[in-house]
Amino acid sequence: MITAKTKIAGIEFDSYIFNASGIKDGTLEELEEIGKSESSAIMLKSCTIEPRKGNEKPREINLPFGYFQSEGLPNLGYRKYLEFIPKLKQYKKPIIASVVGFSLEEYRVLVKTFQESEVDLIEVNLSCPNIVEEGLPIVYNFEKIKELLDKISNLGEKPIGLKLPAYLCYVLQEKMADLIKQYNVPFIASINSVGNALIIDPGKETTLIKPQKGFGGLSGGYIKPIALGNVRRFYELLKDKVSIMGVGGIKTGQDAFEFLLAGADAVQVGTTFEREGVNCFQRINKELEEILEKKGYSSISDIRGRLKYL
Ligand SMILES: Cc1cc2nc3c(=O)[nH]c(=O)nc-3n(C[C@H](O)[C@H](O)[C@H](O)COP(=O)(O)O)c2cc1C
Repeated sequence: MITAKTKIAGIEFDSYIFNASGIKDGTLEELEEIGKSESSAIMLKSCTIEPRKGNEKPREINLPFGYFQSEGLPNLGYRKYLEFIPKLKQYKKPIIASVVGFSLEEYRVLVKTFQESEVDLIEVNLSCPNIVEEGLPIVYNFEKIKELLDKISNLGEKPIGLKLPAYLCYVLQEKMADLIKQYNVPFIASINSVGNALIIDPGKETTLIKPQKGFGGLSGGYIKPIALGNVRRFYELLKDKVSIMGVGGIKTGQDAFEFLLAGADAVQVGTTFEREGVNCFQRINKELEEILEKKGYSSISDIRGRLKYL
């Protein structure tokens, strides 16, 4: 009997697969759908202090190989998500809040508030590619991340993790890993959409989306190798000290298996969930279990991180 159960920061998840923040998880109705599905957790849409309508439309497009968007964090504001939590508890699976602040103080308030709520984990989203920040985005500014971690790491008992971008060079990955170790951050999610991409409609000679003169974030199949690369690097740098949630382009059990080999403790599914709906969790789970069974593994831990080198 295969067990695809896993643990993130010491918390048990019934399977290796759940939803990624931001896709069909912004309303109570959507979150309840996830609660009823085989998603092993309920991940909430990233929320800000105030509700946001997001960027001008058209702002997203689902293309054959992935998703391209500049949504700009439309959400109901954190107070609404706090109201939803007691209703979501009935599904008896870990609930993960995701927060975005526009200042360190806002991050502090959001983390503190969710620390005092009934969520199980808190994902601190440092890497939304569609929010224009002044100067260097926080996620590349390690002094600022340090300041943030000083403010948020001791606000309560619930595990807090960082949602990271695609770091495209080893030095940045190493610097981030050093901070994660220094502050004992118990989990990370890697990676967010890959920002500053541009897709052009050659027929109309226009951009495909309206915000930011057409620049947006890429998800789905386009980014899977980048996500795998980041997960592997962080696994090598952090080993078993930090739980890793792999995100980016997971569509099949085979994709999930590849993330497992790279070192992920669980995977989050975004673009595929948007296309296929809640059935994707059951399907990917089943496909992963079949692969494990065929290969003679009896659990996730038999093979996690065991990528072989040529
Ligand atoms: C429409 C859309 C909205 C998103 N919103 C958020 C968000 O609010 N918070 C967040 O952390 N990531 C957000 N993401 C990024 C996803 O959580 C995920 O990291 C990324 O899409 C890669 O996973 P995928 O290839 O499975 O979609 C969003 C992605 C999409 C496509």
